[in-house]
Amino acid sequence: MKLIHLTDTHLTTPGRTLYGIDPLARLNAAVDHIARQHAGAERCVVTGALTHWGERAAYASLRDALDRLPMPVLPLIGNHDDRATFRAAYPEIPVDASGFVQWTRDTSAGRFILLDTVLGDAAQGRKSAGYFDAGRVDWLRQQLDVAQADAVPVFLFMHHPPFGVGIAAFDEINLVADDAREFGALLRGYSHIRHLFFGHIHRPISGSWHGIPFSTLPATAHQSGLDFLTDADLFTHEAPGYGVVLITPEQVTVHISDFLYRGPQIDPASERL
Ligand SMILES: [Fe+2]
Repeated sequence: MKLIHLTDTHLTTPGRTLYGIDPLARLNAAVDHIARQHAGAERCVVTGALTHWGERAAYASLRDALDRLPMPVLPLIGNHDDRATFRAAYPEIPVDASGFVQWTRDTSAGRFILLDTVLGDAAQGRKSAGYFDAGRVDWLRQQLDVAQADAVPVFLFMHHPPFGVGIAAFDEINLVADDAREFGALLRGYSHIRHLFFGHIHRPISGSWHGIPFSTLPATAHQSGLDFLTDADLFTHEAPGYGVVLITPEQVTVHISDFLYRGPQIDPASERL
């Protein structure tokens, strides 16, 4: 099964640049590249921060761009998104009983569970951090129990990582500590979770957490610098990317496609001693 993973599209109102980048032009370039290279992919998941300020026009242009993809698109929201405006733009995307944009989709590789880690409408908190309160934990426990009973492998998708990644500015805005602890305690009870995909960091990172493999990607928009000499949050114009994920019963392989690359493609046989 081939899955396309997109993250952090950060769309503004069309034409407005962000940190010196046109996010819609970037997304359209990614969509064109995916349509050309990966028309046969089964799904595309977008792990949030779909827009930067949550305007209606930004979601409309997001929809226009993503609707050009040849495969079904599964979006989830991130800290920059506005839940109500997202839901108006994507009325067909299911929500849980509390109105969180959490839903599941069966694929040929297993069950995808898409989580909403954005601060609840009624809650008080830091807007950039991730939240996964008791109600959402209960919902996820139910989904994991059902998947276990159905004997299907699970792939988790969320915007915020439930752990730090060693970058100071981001380690303050992953899932808040109590929620991260609950989330970890829940996941440790299950052995059918094959991979955790997330966004938010705007960098390629992979590893494992409590034995669960994870990966995240460059944004299609701006990137975050990897600079261990500063604690400041610094954005860069490093290359954007999207993920090409190949899933078999034995293996999950994550490629990152540098879709803006226009440099040479060199035949190795052209170099001779
Ligand atoms: Fe982001």
